[in-house]
Amino acid sequence: MYIKLKQIGSIKTPYTDHAPYQPVDDEKDNFRIIVNNEYFEGLLHLEDFIYIYVIYYIDRLKKEISMHVSPPWTNREMVGIFASRAPNRPNSIGISIVKIKKIIKNEIVISGIDVFNDTPLLDIKPYIKELDSKKDANYGWIDGLEGDTDHLLLHIRGIPHGY
Ligand SMILES: C[S@@+](CC[C@H](N)C(=O)[O-])C[C@H]1O[C@@H](n2cnc3c(N)ncnc32)[C@H](O)[C@@H]1O
Repeated sequence: MYIKLKQIGSIKTPYTDHAPYQPVDDEKDNFRIIVNNEYFEGLLHLEDFIYIYVIYYIDRLKKEISMHVSPPWTNREMVGIFASRAPNRPNSIGISIVKIKKIIKNEIVISGIDVFNDTPLLDIKPYIKELDSKKDANYGWIDGLEGDTDHLLLHIRGIPHGY
């Protein structure tokens, strides 16, 4: 079965062909979501939330889709595509949690997001306290990697560090 999806807007970022592996919350540049006018009314009360899930189509894949991937921040660790957040997956759908800074008409000004400029927007959903935060969540296979988890998390986020 093939499923058709509608592009409901686009994501504006300063990244042309390189982006962080995950959103960098305190990135100072300009990040915005433009929602197509026909969906504008769907933003009613979205500003009541601090965080949102942004769901998008990863439209400019550079690599073939493969069932095993090696995330670039690991030392050649191989994991299944579904145990990773790699973009080259059977359905190139990405999800990022970002902060709403302000909403002006059909434009949502957000904190940093890990996508190229003009990435097609598929959906927006509110991130809800407690409901979306599981207290017993773990690090999965990341826990088995060499190095301490805080250090690895910097690598996952692509944040430069001095050690
Ligand atoms: C590792 S993925 C993670 C995406 C999302 N946070 C997730 O977990 O689904 C982020 C990477 O996707 C790539 N990327 C971002 N936007 C893209 C686009 N429109 N087309 C192709 N690749 C893209 C960039 O290389 C970026 O570093």
